Amino acid sequence: MQQKTSTIFKSQFEEEVFQGLSEYPKHLSSKYFYDERGDKLFQDIMDMPEYYLTDCEFEILSTYKEEIARLFSAGTEEFNLVELGAGDGKKTKILLRYFSEQRINFTYLPIDISQNALDQLEKSVGEELPKVPVQTQQGTYFETLESINRLDHTKKVILFLGSNIGNLLHPQAIEFLKHIQELMQAGDLLFIGFDQKKHPQTILDAYNDAAGITEAFNKNVLARINKELDGNFDLDKFLHWEVYDPETGTAKSYLVAKESQTVRIEKLQLTVTFKPWETIHTEISQKYDNETVCWLAEKAGLQVETEFGDPQNQYKNYIFKKK
Ligand code: AVI
Repeated sequence: MQQKTSTIFKSQFEEEVFQGLSEYPKHLSSKYFYDERGDKLFQDIMDMPEYYLTDCEFEILSTYKEEIARLFSAGTEEFNLVELGAGDGKKTKILLRYFSEQRINFTYLPIDISQNALDQLEKSVGEELPKVPVQTQQGTYFETLESINRLDHTKKVILFLGSNIGNLLHPQAIEFLKHIQELMQAGDLLFIGFDQKKHPQTILDAYNDAAGITEAFNKNVLARINKELDGNFDLDKFLHWEVYDPETGTAKSYLVAKESQTVRIEKLQLTVTFKPWETIHTEISQKYDNETVCWLAEKAGLQVETEFGDPQNQYKNYIFKKK
């Protein structure tokens, strides 16, 4: 039993942590993995040999850049390349470099909630690819896409890389795609990564590396609760546990209590008890096949124009357009 007192929440983080740890089974959203340390841990994950997603997408962009350039510039003199959640832009720079070498007329508009991330990205693109015009857009994806539409009717190509969509359950993914679809004009494109179903062991290895980076990333949500909400989680008393269901294609991450324990989160005036081996579900990383991707697109009023895969089809990038 949790002891609750009425609390006025100061942020969505506070509210969701309160709810997630008061319910049974317990859950916390993976969107709370990301603070400065979480961003760094995710960069480290992307550099791990087990995390094949990054290498596959890198290979796809390198191999097909010519065809991608042709599709992006089709029917227009110029286009805006709008990237949702650009991170360090490592993969995007493959395209930026090629487009710039080919003297393709485009502007790069990375969108991110973090001004700091955008400043760093703008600086590195400026240094490495000085001819690429960059207009950073600070804000949420949808608000920013709306304001871009208001100011500018140039063809938009929206990039959503890294299989970030996989962190959403199908109904949420459809909502997300629908929202983007509504903000697309006729002729606009969505270039989006979907990690594919494959040998279950390959997936388990990618989400349960021997060095423990993914474990630290998963536990970072507890570290944030300790730091920001004055909690006293003992991170060593939790296991990182990954499962993959090859039938549904869903990889799920858990934190599992190794022993019975009581945790106090002062700012929420919340005491949380754990039975031995009780779980907190923290993340889903969905894996797809073509049928599922087409179904999601269809449900959102989009259609698949074309797809690009790595040689083993471990990972695919699709181009969607409005139906
Ligand atoms: C950001 N996202 C697509 C990553 C994934 O693969 O689900 C986050 C991640 N979680 C554990 N490792 C990487």
